[in-house]
Amino acid sequence: MEENFRPRILVFCCNWCSYAGADLAGVSRLQMKPYFRVIRTMCSARVDPEFILRALKKGADGILVAGCHPGDCHYIGGNYRTRRRIALLKLMLQQFGLNPKRLRLEWISAGEGGKFQQTMNEFIDQIATLGPSPYRETGRQNG
Ligand code: FES
Repeated sequence: MEENFRPRILVFCCNWCSYAGADLAGVSRLQMKPYFRVIRTMCSARVDPEFILRALKKGADGILVAGCHPGDCHYIGGNYRTRRRIALLKLMLQQFGLNPKRLRLEWISAGEGGKFQQTMNEFIDQIATLGPSPYRETGRQNG
């Protein structure tokens, strides 16, 4: 792990479950390292693969997609679609020279503030171990 490395992590949370779980972690004052930004989407399936690839190309060190548990998606099968997409994206990342561990999918419900905290702290530690994305500098220059 590089000294002074501050990971830049994007977290896509679906509105109905995971965002509420993240909010619960916040209002419960659960301790998390401050190296992530949350983007709320209506469903995990709204996270277009293009969003993920673009963020990684611009130098994000890690991406977490969080959605409702299987069977709980408010759009019926959105999270099943997300699961298939993430599996394919992980294969693509290897082609781009990125460790697939930089992308993670997690199911987090509205009542699972503790799970959100634990997931974030684990993921941040994992990204810190991997080090900066190889696209970090070039991504900034290429816009
Ligand atoms: Fe949460 Fe679809 S609404 S994953």
